[in-house]
Amino acid sequence: MAPNLSDVSQISAVTERLAADDHGLARAAQLLRDGACVAFPTETVYGLGADARNGEAVAGIYAAKGRPSFNPLIAHVADAASAQRHVVWSDLAEKLARAFWPGPLTLVLPLAPDHGISSLTTAGLDTLAVRVPAHPAAQALLRAFDGPLAAPSANPSGRISPTTADHVLAGLSGRIAAVLDDGPCSVGVESTIVGLADGVPRLLRPGGLATEPIEAVLGHALAQPASDDITAPGQLSSHYAPAGAVRLNAEASQGDEVFLGFGPGPCDLSLSPDGDLAQAAARLFDCLHRLDATGRPIAVAPIPDSGLGLAINDRLRRAAAPRP
Ligand code: TXA
Ligand code: MG
Repeated sequence: MAPNLSDVSQISAVTERLAADDHGLARAAQLLRDGACVAFPTETVYGLGADARNGEAVAGIYAAKGRPSFNPLIAHVADAASAQRHVVWSDLAEKLARAFWPGPLTLVLPLAPDHGISSLTTAGLDTLAVRVPAHPAAQALLRAFDGPLAAPSANPSGRISPTTADHVLAGLSGRIAAVLDDGPCSVGVESTIVGLADGVPRLLRPGGLATEPIEAVLGHALAQPASDDITAPGQLSSHYAPAGAVRLNAEASQGDEVFLGFGPGPCDLSLSPDGDLAQAAARLFDCLHRLDATGRPIAVAPIPDSGLGLAINDRLRRAAAPRP
């Protein structure tokens, strides 16, 4: 039976803010075992976690985010051995996992027999996206919970992704059981997603791991998504959107706009005064949250389209896309 998204029975009146210490981790793991949704930090963005094997718990993620439709979610696990309980492993998966896990890389692989994952996590696909986050609090939570956690970014659907617990609470307070607070995320944009389901490594979403090191390990370029591949939510439609308008590749602000800079030059806020792409990725969503709070439209300086610039420009294009 399809879960009813207007069902508010899972929605918590008070959202607990938990420290990432033994007590907070034990409380978060208990809430997750009880089928509740708990936001937790990863090195990319804060995720909204629920037991990936429990359809009702995963339905709680959709209810809290107000997501209108079911996208497949990423299953977070503590290590590659845990991933192998749920997916069909391959030499290519082993090669990429050895090079980049734990870290901001998600692999899409065929579901294993007896995978145990809820069809709401996979949106009914016969593949699963798996990721081993490097963040110590995410690692500790996964080990305390001892199971796979489905976790999209912990923000209301379509809005700016959260890189601090304050961002999470600003969007979801009262709608989720708890947030595990361990400070700002270091990478700042979501994981890079590589599809391996048909044996050809394909870039499904640019993200916090640049494509260049992945291609260096593979010894060849990543392929485009296949025509029937699911790519990231709203590929060309609005996502990661501030409330106000966003104008890209701007040399300066016009009219009422606030200016988000990159590199030297005057601006209201800078992604990176030195033009450092890793710093810009880490600051991207926080800068958008801050500028959005001014209530004014946002103009953004050009960002180079290489390295982490690929993921930054992908998020910016969607932030600027026409709203539904
Ligand atoms: O960094 C991240 O990846 C963050 C943190 C919390 O770990 N998580 C995240 O999750 O961005 P989410 O739910 O926004 O990403 C899910 C996306 C889907 O929209 C789709 O693009 C891809 O992952 N995906 C998931 N399962 C897939 C599958 N079976 N086949 C292809 N793509 C899939
Ligand atoms: Mg998201």
